Amino acid sequence: MCGIVGYVGKTGASSVIMDCLRRLEYRGYDSAGLSVLNGDLQTYKAAGSISELDKVLPAEIKGNIGIGHTRWATHGMPNDVNAHPHCSSDIVVVHNGIIENYLKLKEWLEDEGYEFVSDTDTEVIAHLVHFNSNSLDLFEAVHKSMAVLEGSYAIAVMSKNNPDTLIASRKDSPLIVGLGENEFFTSSDATAFVAHTRDVIFVDDREIVKLTPEKVEFYDMEGQLLEKQISTIDWDVEAAEKSGYAHFMLKEIHEQTRSLQKTFAGKLAELEGNVRLTELKLTDEQIRNINRVEIIACGTSWNAGLFGKYLLETLAGMHTDVSAASEFRYRDPVMDENVLTIAITQSGETADTLAAIRNVVQYESSTIAITNVVGSTITREAENVVYTHAGPEIGVAATKTFTAQLIALYLLAIYMGRKRNYLLPDEAKDVIKALKELPGHVQQVLNQRDQIRKNAAQYADCRDYYFIGRGLNYPAALEAALKLKEISYIHAEGYAAGELKHGPLALLEKGTPVVAIVTKNRTYAKMLSNIKEVKARGAEVIAVADERDREIGKYADLVIFVPATNPLLSPVLSSVALQLLAYYTALEKGCEIDKPRNLAKSVTVE
Ligand code: F6R
Repeated sequence: MCGIVGYVGKTGASSVIMDCLRRLEYRGYDSAGLSVLNGDLQTYKAAGSISELDKVLPAEIKGNIGIGHTRWATHGMPNDVNAHPHCSSDIVVVHNGIIENYLKLKEWLEDEGYEFVSDTDTEVIAHLVHFNSNSLDLFEAVHKSMAVLEGSYAIAVMSKNNPDTLIASRKDSPLIVGLGENEFFTSSDATAFVAHTRDVIFVDDREIVKLTPEKVEFYDMEGQLLEKQISTIDWDVEAAEKSGYAHFMLKEIHEQTRSLQKTFAGKLAELEGNVRLTELKLTDEQIRNINRVEIIACGTSWNAGLFGKYLLETLAGMHTDVSAASEFRYRDPVMDENVLTIAITQSGETADTLAAIRNVVQYESSTIAITNVVGSTITREAENVVYTHAGPEIGVAATKTFTAQLIALYLLAIYMGRKRNYLLPDEAKDVIKALKELPGHVQQVLNQRDQIRKNAAQYADCRDYYFIGRGLNYPAALEAALKLKEISYIHAEGYAAGELKHGPLALLEKGTPVVAIVTKNRTYAKMLSNIKEVKARGAEVIAVADERDREIGKYADLVIFVPATNPLLSPVLSSVALQLLAYYTALEKGCEIDKPRNLAKSVTVE
């Protein structure tokens, strides 16, 4: 959700910044811009994607220091004027976040004689820093401005009057610094500069960073110089490239054979019927005392949370509720010190999820974050962190990080179940065995891509799509519907199959495709009844079923078979199959698969 980048080095800033912006484009793609300082400020902006910005750049832009931005509009239409960087005389700023008190600041700055040209909240930052820089140097002017800015921001600021200095800071929006050889970077995400360096420093809230060609310094709000730790990113530039695939989404779907393995690597103790989660600091007594689990998450991660509910109830006997973080943060939840809160967030930066977990602090209860991004903000907010290790995900639609979240939840549920003496070692062994077989089973699903592509083409022109399932296949149905709607723009809904007759059946017409996830579990017979109900209304049924199911062909119009496995694990396989269905439907329709309209990855604003 908006990507910012700053560069100070010895080579041409504009080409480095453009390269960084291309890699950051998944964070927002409705306009882009950059400024390079070489005596004068040279600023270029364009509505649309980075390629539109490329068209307006001159052949050569001299200068070794610059900032850039790729935008997901919050305040103001996506046009050239509202694109960043925003400028106030000799000051330029790029910003990710929302300045909540911008109207008040704008009125005050207008009284001071500043003229606003854009509809953005960001422009107040440029004028405010300019106002403060009348009596202070750039660092001090940004520092002073931060004291009055309310809301969230990651900013990078340059001034014509401080030609060798770039100032960056953050509050509630991600920011990271990259340490290259004779060059330094700052960005919303390491993906931007990982081709140049994997050595990074995570910027904490309300820290100010001063980047010059010689060094990078970090300061707190009191102006004290800070000692910061250098970390190394554990993936390389190839992981953030398409590597021959037509889209990042397709690559990421295929990566699931390896990413799932990475999530459970070193954690399965099959002989003992247990898992190792050494990263958890919860004592056995704390685990025994947990009286309820509250899972908070958004979007696909919320769907994973619903899986978590079924798993924690089935494998650990723990009462579990799942809340959309955007609701939880404004509710009056009934909590106490024995409620375990689990925040699930791929990016670790989703504003609502962060706000929700911050609300939980008051209960002095235990918290666990399940996230994919090392060093992300959630890792500093939660007491315990379980990393999913799926590698960077660039496609806006979550795929491999979703199934990695599921694996993390299987591990957590087994761990809790064993600690609470709810799950027997032999029961755990069955699930662990199935987990180990999962990468091979995922490969078998991927091998059917040509067939799934044909199935997708058959229904690509339909107006509505419904997905139904029971038990763990219900959250799988919700996730499949979300995937399809976000990348193909077909209206899609997921339902608990038993709920159909309470309303949704009225929506079915002749030919409406209904995907029934009907892998074998204790509700199989009930699902067959639901399939008959929808067929009786003229709908066409695409069943996702176990490969050994010889009956299903009699009920469904089409069948996508997935390998037979432990019923607790088969929804992972159905999810992979339905990711392919969504992908090929969007491909058939010619949609922008990696960058669906109106969306962006990592929703860092409320
Ligand atoms: C959908 C998707 C989103 C995210 C949601 C939460 O494919 O990716 O629904 O799941 O924005 O993001 P994280 O997991 O980063 O908190």
